[in-house]
Amino acid sequence: MAGAGEKVDYVFKVVLIGDSAVGKSQILARFARNEFSLDSKATIGVEFQTRTLVIDHRSVKAQIWDTAGQERYRAVTSAYYRGALGALLVYDITRRQSFDHIPRWLDELRAHADKNIVIMLVGNKSDLEEQRAVSTEDAKEFAEKENLFFLETSALQATNVESAFQTVLTEIF
Ligand code: GTP
Ligand code: MG
Repeated sequence: MAGAGEKVDYVFKVVLIGDSAVGKSQILARFARNEFSLDSKATIGVEFQTRTLVIDHRSVKAQIWDTAGQERYRAVTSAYYRGALGALLVYDITRRQSFDHIPRWLDELRAHADKNIVIMLVGNKSDLEEQRAVSTEDAKEFAEKENLFFLETSALQATNVESAFQTVLTEIF
């Protein structure tokens, strides 16, 4: 990992989208600071965090943008997507509705983002297996149909969060 003052070869903007409470902000907290909070507050407006990592011997600064899933708290859509090279499209495996809304988020993303944007479909909260409402197979099938990468994550248990970002960043690279 590059330390303070070290040179950065690339800056990649990645956006997080999906319904409210699916865990976008906690996925970001896990990736950027290795933190997790169970009483996370709904995001208002837009926030971002960065983490610099080495990919293929180059130092890549990932600038991850996070906005509100709730319509009334959302940031200006066009500005949010501008310049984004990657996206994590997040649903909650225990809330069917959050998965059913994925096509809408994908439409918005495709309408506003660069056409070559790298998209990862993320089924979060995989630690809550006993409350699962979306099968891995359904999600995988949707991802294949839409040409998206796909992973199930748990921000709580730190499962696949690193992998989700690594895959997107490596693919951008
Ligand atoms: P908005 O900001 O409103 O769009 O929501 P968000 O998608 O950012 O959700 P947030 O990260 O705030 O998480 C919502 C709730 O889900 C919080 O209570 C989190 O602690 C919880 N949560 C997030 N990720 C996980 C996870 O992997 N497992 C479990 N069990 N809970 C999680
Ligand atoms: Mg949030």
